Amino acid sequence: MKPKVYVTRRVPDLGLDMVLKTCEAEVWEGELPVPRDLLLEKVRDINGLYCLLTDRVDEALLDAAPNLRVVSNYAVGYNNIAVDVCTARGIPVGNTPGVLTDTTADFAFALLMAAARRIVEGARYVANGKWRTWGPKLLRGVDVYGGTLGIVGFGRIGQAVARRARGFDMRVLYYDPYAEGLDPDVADAVDLEMLLSQSDFVSIHVPLSDETHHLIGEAELAQMKSTAVLVNTARGPVVDPDALLRALQTQVIAAAALDVTEPEPLPPDHPLVSLPNCIVCPHIASASIATRNKMAVIAAENLLAGLEGRHLPHCVNPEVYPLRW
Ligand code: DGY
Repeated sequence: MKPKVYVTRRVPDLGLDMVLKTCEAEVWEGELPVPRDLLLEKVRDINGLYCLLTDRVDEALLDAAPNLRVVSNYAVGYNNIAVDVCTARGIPVGNTPGVLTDTTADFAFALLMAAARRIVEGARYVANGKWRTWGPKLLRGVDVYGGTLGIVGFGRIGQAVARRARGFDMRVLYYDPYAEGLDPDVADAVDLEMLLSQSDFVSIHVPLSDETHHLIGEAELAQMKSTAVLVNTARGPVVDPDALLRALQTQVIAAAALDVTEPEPLPPDHPLVSLPNCIVCPHIASASIATRNKMAVIAAENLLAGLEGRHLPHCVNPEVYPLRW
């Protein structure tokens, strides 16, 4: 008998076909996330869940799914999943690390440059019919090359952003209490206070956890240069949105570029959306065609491995195995 699987959105065919071929799978075809009540119903008989970062996999969902053997998240981040509860129930959780590192780093750097050189403001200026002549002081920004970049969280993506900064002759600082033994030629380890006070650009690359929730709030923004640009491609709640709004409105910092927000989606009438010195994108840093295909395949491989009782190729809670095997 084929294992039963629920897929919470239509993911790219490359990965979806692997699941459809070997499982009795149902796919949620809606453009928006599966409504919570329906999701709790759909998981009742399933053995595997192929889910997205927009699905909350918590104790209530796990209670509703007594036959669940594996949770596979179509993302590298997994703050939407109660991993400790999965572990306690012997359920391995998969994610998609590695394949989106450079795609996300490209996007973080694109946001950094767009904010520094006011590219989105410039495009809006033209679209709004304001462009009447060349102007000596028109839309002046700050230079990226030769600046100091502070990277908060020096894992795979943070390091990939640092490599890009080298091409712009930047000095790179990083803050990461968990990173050890990194090449000092690439970046200098500093504490958060020094990073914030010395950087022209601050780019966030930490996972969301209790420890990193609102890591950047009013006090941290006040430590930054008034000319600085903040970039967030990690998770929205790492930055306190109210504090950021005030800091941008009162020029405590010069600009921000956000691919992730709190909440998500950010409503179109949220004041951050209309601020000229803030760029807001809809969580698309990993959204290249090639990368989203690779993520779909990895998530499928994780799911199928879990269903067959094999170790997941990318498992966020490997401590689950001694409990089951
Ligand atoms: C992730 O994978 O965690 C990103 O936020 C979306 O690709």
